[in-house]
Amino acid sequence: MKSTPAKAVKVRSASGDYVVLCQRGILERAEREIARLGRFSSIHILTSPKVWKALGKEIRRGMPEGFAKHVHQFDDAEEAKNLQTVEKISRALVRTGADRKALLVAVGGGVVGDVVGFAAASYLRGVQLVQVPTTLVAQVDSAVGGKTGVNLPEGKNLVGAFYPPRLVLVDPKALGTLPDREFRSGLAEVIKYGVIADPKLFAFLESGMDAILRRDARALEHVIRRSIEIKARVVGKDERESGLREILNFGHTFGHALESATRYRRFQHGEAVAWGMMCAGLLGHEVTGTPADAVSRIVTLVRRIGPLPEWPETSAKRLLQAMHADKKTREGKLRFVLAPRIGEAETFDDVPEKKVECILRCAPQFFARPLKALGKCDA
Ligand SMILES: NC(=O)c1ccc[n+]([C@@H]2O[C@H](COP(=O)([O-])OP(=O)(O)OC[C@H]3O[C@@H](n4cnc5c(N)ncnc54)[C@H](O)[C@@H]3O)[C@@H](O)[C@H]2O)c1
Ligand SMILES: [Zn+2]
Repeated sequence: MKSTPAKAVKVRSASGDYVVLCQRGILERAEREIARLGRFSSIHILTSPKVWKALGKEIRRGMPEGFAKHVHQFDDAEEAKNLQTVEKISRALVRTGADRKALLVAVGGGVVGDVVGFAAASYLRGVQLVQVPTTLVAQVDSAVGGKTGVNLPEGKNLVGAFYPPRLVLVDPKALGTLPDREFRSGLAEVIKYGVIADPKLFAFLESGMDAILRRDARALEHVIRRSIEIKARVVGKDERESGLREILNFGHTFGHALESATRYRRFQHGEAVAWGMMCAGLLGHEVTGTPADAVSRIVTLVRRIGPLPEWPETSAKRLLQAMHADKKTREGKLRFVLAPRIGEAETFDDVPEKKVECILRCAPQFFARPLKALGKCDA
C-alpha cells in the first residue's frame, strides 16, 4: 500500500530546528524517516521491558535489526529516572561501541524520553537523538520542546539539559496498548492546549470525547497533532521558558501542590492537572472575569476524562505552602496561568492569596456537584 507523506510540524530551536511527524502507522516507516537524517555509525534503540513487550514487534517491523542493531532496555519507573540509569545507559553504549556518530532512539513514555534525552545530551558530550513517544503525555508534551532530565532524591527533574531531538515520530496507534489510567491522564494535557490556545480544539474535544475515549485513531490523530502544533508554536517562541512557555502550566500550580501534598503517590500528573484546571478555571472567574459559562465548559470537559482520585484531606493552608515550595515561584510570589476566555491564557503573579485559599477550601465540594449555575467561591 502506498503511504501518504506525514504532515510535519516544525519546531524551532536555538540548537537546530526539527520536525515532528504525527500520523497513524508512521512507525512502520521509521527506517525511511530516520534514514533521511543522514548516516550513523550505529543505531541504538533505548526502551523499557514494559514498552518493548507491548510494542517491540511493531517497532521492529519499522526498524529491523539490520537498521537498528542494538536494543537496550532499562526500568522506566519514575523511581528509576535518575543518574544511575543514565550511567547504566552510557556504559551499555560504550560496551556496544557507540561513538560520536551514533544515534539514540528513545522508545517509550516521558520517563524514557527524559532519561534517554539526557543521556544523549551528555554521552560523549552529545550524540543525536530521535524520540518515539508511546504515551499520550509523551506524544503531546514531553517529546516536544527539548527538555530532558532526571530526578534527585531532593526533587524531580533537578538535573537536566535542553537537548532537542533531530526528529520525533508520533504514532497514535502506539497508544492502543496504553493502560486506561495513563491514557485518560494524558487527555488532561490535551484539554489544557484547548483552553490556553485553541477554542476549536476545545470544541472538538467536547463533541468528540466519546470517540477519543474509545481511542478512535482518526480523532486521536487530530487532537494529538493539534496539541503538538500548539506546543511547537509556544516553545518555538520561548524555548527556555522566560515568558510565553509558562502558559503551558495552566492548571499546574494547583496540580503540583496536589501532587507534592500527596507525595506523588495518589495522582498521576495529568489527574492532578485535571483538578488543577478546574481550580484555575474558577480562579480565572474570580480574578480575570472568565465567563461562568466558560468555566462550566472547562469543568464539564475535565470531568469526562475522570473519575479522578479524591482531593486530599489536607488543609488549604498546607496546599498553599506546597505552592510556595514549588520551584516555579519567583521571589516568593505565586504565579498562576489563567484563561480569561477559552483559547487564551496569561500569567498572573498578583492573585490575592485569600482567593486561592478559598478555592482550595471549596474545590472538593464545588466540583463534585452538578454545575448548573456557577456561584462565587465563598467557602
Ligand atoms: N520533558 C518534558 O517536557 C516533560 C513534560 C511532561 C512530563 N515529563 C516527564 O514525563 C514523565 C511521565 O511520562 P508519562 O506520563 O509518559 O509516563 P511514563 O513514562 O511513566 O509511562 C507510564 C507507563 O506506561 C508504560 N508505557 C509506555 N508506553 C506504553 C504503551 N504504548 N503501551 C503500554 N504501556 C506503555 C510505561 O512502561 C510506564 O509503566 C515524568 O517523569 C515527567 O516528569 C517531561
Ligand atoms: Zn503537565
